[in-house]
Amino acid sequence: MIDFYLNGKRRQCADVSPDTSILELLRTQLGQTGTKEGCASGDCGACTVAIGEPDVSGELRYHNANACITPAYQLQGCHLVTVEGLSRGDALHPAQAAMVECHGSQCGFCTPGIVMSLFTLHEEQRRCPAPLTQERLEAALGGNLCRCTGYRPIRDAALSMDQYPDTHPVWADDPELAANIVTLRQNTATTSEFASQGHFTAPRDLAALRELKRQRPQARLVAGATDLWLETTQQLRILDDLIDVRQVAELNTIEETPEGWWIGSAVTYSRLEPLLEVHYPTFAHLMHRFASSQIRNRGTLGGNVANASPIGDTPPVLLALDARLILDGPDGERELPLAEFFLDYKKTALKDNEFIRAIFLPRPSCDQNLKVWKLSKRREDDISAVLAAFAWRQEDGVMRDVRLAFGGMAAIPRRALGAEQALEGQPPCVKAFEAAKRSLRDEFQPMTDVRGAAEYRQMAASNMLERLHLMLVAASNQNTDAEVMLDAYAH
Ligand SMILES: Cc1cc2nc3c(=O)[nH]c(=O)nc-3n(C[C@H](O)[C@H](O)[C@H](O)COP(=O)(O)OP(=O)(O)OC[C@H]3O[C@@H](n4cnc5c(N)ncnc54)[C@H](O)[C@@H]3O)c2cc1C
Ligand code: FES
Ligand code: FES
Repeated sequence: MIDFYLNGKRRQCADVSPDTSILELLRTQLGQTGTKEGCASGDCGACTVAIGEPDVSGELRYHNANACITPAYQLQGCHLVTVEGLSRGDALHPAQAAMVECHGSQCGFCTPGIVMSLFTLHEEQRRCPAPLTQERLEAALGGNLCRCTGYRPIRDAALSMDQYPDTHPVWADDPELAANIVTLRQNTATTSEFASQGHFTAPRDLAALRELKRQRPQARLVAGATDLWLETTQQLRILDDLIDVRQVAELNTIEETPEGWWIGSAVTYSRLEPLLEVHYPTFAHLMHRFASSQIRNRGTLGGNVANASPIGDTPPVLLALDARLILDGPDGERELPLAEFFLDYKKTALKDNEFIRAIFLPRPSCDQNLKVWKLSKRREDDISAVLAAFAWRQEDGVMRDVRLAFGGMAAIPRRALGAEQALEGQPPCVKAFEAAKRSLRDEFQPMTDVRGAAEYRQMAASNMLERLHLMLVAASNQNTDAEVMLDAYAH
């Protein structure tokens, strides 16, 4: 049974199959059809809802999420807010009022999802007001497509929400709501088996997860579900044996050591971003181009690595930074360099009963450089055709500790060892970079698919190396104009 709150009212839903999404639960079992289905793959945002979970002080924090690819069972002990729950009688929530006044809707199919993304933005502003910069608007609305209105009226609505009466939803007046949710979560058992048919089990600690993996090694793990759920919505696979790692306390920590950070595999991108902003601004910049806020709020670093997609965005960066993994399971734990984790297309070093516990991100040395360039067709919410991550130090005019990693260039994300060798110990000169580019052509045989032909990918990867070269030359000449030109193409 799923025990949660919907727009302030407690709901207990039984007989839900393990692979039911929040969207299906809402529309079919609960008769709440305000939330729409567009793509059923997390791309369009029509199904956006807000999920409230208590923070450390017990206050409910809301994030937007794609209902079409979020497991219904992950609502256990949460407050789900949908477009039906925003107005107060005839009085509209500021997100709705602004959309009406700014003519932010035509056919209206995308509108409930956009209103919910505006609602979570409004909640953020209520808690911690800050200027609504272009970057913040892109982050808030980048996961919501609209095919007929055009984005300017929607942006105008976002910018003018604070000019409307601050109408609270009725449930916001309930002083008990947050405390009731905290109690509901506390009363949820350490290993909860929710589904009556099949399994959707949510362990709360490492010991329980290990035991479950011992009993059911074949069970699929689910974290944010932003990859896994596409198997059911796009490939119509039945997922009837699931272990949810999101609640496992040890998988949710970020542990700082003098050498770096152990990031629990179930830490979401949204939680990771502040750390990256401080220590790895280049990596943080990539996060702005990673999917959408809906996906970043649910998706995890562990899921990205375990999914082992050749076009996953974080593995090349983690390879360039020499990241390591802790793999864990009923037979104990082991540490592995990330470079040894990816074996072949979607094949990893994980044994059946193992899971990723944590990912180690080394602390950058003061002279370390990192550049990450993602090439995709759209700037927001798109997967890479090619992603390059370059790390190096410059010492006495030559390049040292050069690590060049690529996504989209082979069956697995991997380093270009020959190209690295061509640059190691060399000044950033034409000769060294020409040798590196030649080596790149021998090292990779990329595939042709909808994101790019093999020749295009080869050329793009080579051009990214050339770009690094030009950037280093421009930096040594202190030629800032050239840097601006290069940045014009940077994403
Ligand atoms: C619209 C959309 C846009 C996207 N954009 C991007 C993008 O720009 N860049 C990008 O790289 N990806 C993108 N993705 C893919 C996805 O969001 C990421 O790969 C994400 O990090 C997956 O994490 P998750 O927690 O959702 O994993 P899940 O979907 O829950 O799991 C993914 C896989 O990992 C396994 N798994 C999960 N946790 C563990 C663990 N601890 N140990 C072992 N196995 C585990 C699962 O069994 C499953 O096989 C996008 C997806 C969507 C739907
Ligand atoms: S229906 Fe398109 S993102 Fe969910
Ligand atoms: S109003 Fe029609 S798709 Fe947005």
